[in-house]
Amino acid sequence: MQRMEEMILTYGKVLPGGILKVGSFLNQQIDSLFLREMGEEIAALYRDCGVNKILTIESSGIAIAAAAGIVMGVPVVFAKKHKTSNVDGKIYAAPVHSFTHGNDYQAVVSTDYLTDQDTVLIVDDFLASGNALHGLVNLCGQAGAKVAGMAIAVEKCFQGGGDELRAAGYRVESLAMIEAMTDDGIVFRH
Ligand code: G4P
Repeated sequence: MQRMEEMILTYGKVLPGGILKVGSFLNQQIDSLFLREMGEEIAALYRDCGVNKILTIESSGIAIAAAAGIVMGVPVVFAKKHKTSNVDGKIYAAPVHSFTHGNDYQAVVSTDYLTDQDTVLIVDDFLASGNALHGLVNLCGQAGAKVAGMAIAVEKCFQGGGDELRAAGYRVESLAMIEAMTDDGIVFRH
């Protein structure tokens, strides 16, 4: 998506440690009109794939997932990062290691919202090493749900998670793919 690349080049900031800051339009302040474009792009990519549900993980994935869900006309489920008091009853839980934050957590979803009747599109804001996505795939597996594919706003190809998922047979579509990133500039994969 050319516009995502333009947004990154215009507003993104490269931080030490291979981190791209996009707080001005994606991670803290959300550019609503651009969010709608992202939703439309994701919906177009997965048109006619039988998707009846979108799955993401709190928190930054939710806005993009909801934008896609509105266009596709399907519900959006978000995994929580801990079992909280409002996730009661039976749950599916998957361990996730966050490479960026250096911590571990459980991705948790109620068994009410993910079933073997679902064909799921997994959506998230960033794809780095892919641990969060593996956790969401794990949750789908526990539920017996089919994974139609994944849609990501920004893939950092240099961390390898996306290519690993593709090699495992998953369809992974990223609105921008960053091959390399330094203070001097950003190189996109096309
Ligand atoms: P992985 O899931 O692909 O393995 O990635 P990783 O553990 O490294 O990412 C952990 C968190 O850091 C995720 O958010 C992810 O979206 C975010 N992240 C990773 N790389 C970048 C980056 O270059 N820029 C920004 N802005 N975020 C990045 P999270 O901890 O789940 O937080 P949130 O969704 O609640 O914001």
